[in-house]
Amino acid sequence: MLKLNCKNSDYSIIGETHGLNLQEEFNNYSTEIADIIRSLNQRKDRQGEWLQWMNLGYNEETVWYVKEFASLVEGRFDNILVLGIGGSVLGGLAVTEAILKPYWNFLSKEQRNNLPRLFFLDNIDPDSINAILDILDLKKTLVNVITKSGDTAETMSQFMVIKNLMENALGDDYRKNIVATTDKKMGILRQLADQEGYKIFYVPDDIGGRFSVFSSVGLLPFALVGLDIDKIIQGIKDIDLELKNTDINQNIAAQFALIHYLMDTKKGKNISVLMPYSSRLKLIPDWYVQLIAESLGKKSNRNGETVNTGITPLKAIGASDQHTILQLLNEGPNNKVVTFIRVQEFNTQLSIPKIFEYTGIGYLGGKTVNDLLRAEMYSTRVSLADNNRPSLTLTMDKIDEYNVAQLLYMLEVQTAIAGELYNINAYNQPGVEQVKNYMYALMGRAGYEGSATSIQEKMNRGSKSESVNA
Ligand code: PA5
Repeated sequence: MLKLNCKNSDYSIIGETHGLNLQEEFNNYSTEIADIIRSLNQRKDRQGEWLQWMNLGYNEETVWYVKEFASLVEGRFDNILVLGIGGSVLGGLAVTEAILKPYWNFLSKEQRNNLPRLFFLDNIDPDSINAILDILDLKKTLVNVITKSGDTAETMSQFMVIKNLMENALGDDYRKNIVATTDKKMGILRQLADQEGYKIFYVPDDIGGRFSVFSSVGLLPFALVGLDIDKIIQGIKDIDLELKNTDINQNIAAQFALIHYLMDTKKGKNISVLMPYSSRLKLIPDWYVQLIAESLGKKSNRNGETVNTGITPLKAIGASDQHTILQLLNEGPNNKVVTFIRVQEFNTQLSIPKIFEYTGIGYLGGKTVNDLLRAEMYSTRVSLADNNRPSLTLTMDKIDEYNVAQLLYMLEVQTAIAGELYNINAYNQPGVEQVKNYMYALMGRAGYEGSATSIQEKMNRGSKSESVNA
């Protein structure tokens, strides 16, 4: 089970100015936290609360359908190509990067146990889209287009390009190479999938993109490349039970959320650095960035007051970023909380040969790279504490479906608790909508003509005229 060590955020280690009296704060907030946990669990089935993600550990029907489809197409495709953006792919990217064998797409078919290679297109960079299209044989590629709204411009433009190419390559059969993951009732992709006869998986109601990784959004790509989705679900179920505990002393999501909240509101530390000491976990901070930024960065609270809340998430990776960001963490503004992710037991071990014994690197010989990575993490943690910088450490037993699922789910639950502490709606993203409206206007979408004039004027303020076609 995932563990949290918070002692390096306590005043006894990093001093009163920067540290919290953790036990006192846990006592002070015990009733509020218990009420929050009770309330989230009571509201989770209520329509419009956007808390259905809390039920994903119990969604046996989706697991069954996903497994059935994965076994139906087993052996038919050399490649899976996932199209999507933001919450529709960040979880998929993070989990598959963690669990699949490293360098998966470079392994031979035998080394991949005949499972397909996996590609994500999560942006609209023309060079990378063209490059992937050069690599993939579309006849042997299953395309999974994921968009809850069904009309996200980035995803649907990718899809339009690829659908045309597939039709040219496969004729009418192209339909068998497309799976749509989208809303049950609404959206253009939903209509298209019906008209054209694509296989469809649904994103359940009341789950936002950034909380959707354990719905069909993530489970389908996971199953298609052979991840054990039963273990994922078991991991969530087991930790969900722990995180229902209303006693903050027993609930690591509540501790994680409260410490960040108090570090922000009492100590002015509103930057959260997530730093796994494992390359396989390197995309988890990307997923965390969206989860925290979109959920907690809000102009207004639930009472309609302007609060401009937010914790700024920062991604890092150990040990590499000891050589990039650590200088700033140790000596720059003391406004950050660093969370280390420590893997108790790596899947493999790598010994460093005893060579160059009588040189300055001789001490490394006979040790393992595993020892070195562990020593790097402890050294960073202690040096941050020396400089009165708070940190937390999450320890996972190993990297597999069960443990990775627990890590992500805990971070979701802590985000929900933090949202309640800040008294904001953690499930909307009004700050993203304005940009979408401007983009529609610039690209000539019907109904946005008024915005087109206004944005054109604003684009030209103080500069020579610019145009989207330039
Ligand atoms: O978390 C979110 O809600 C967003 O990041 C969405 O996932 C992202 O905007 C993509 O939306 P959609 O799935 O509708 O294409």
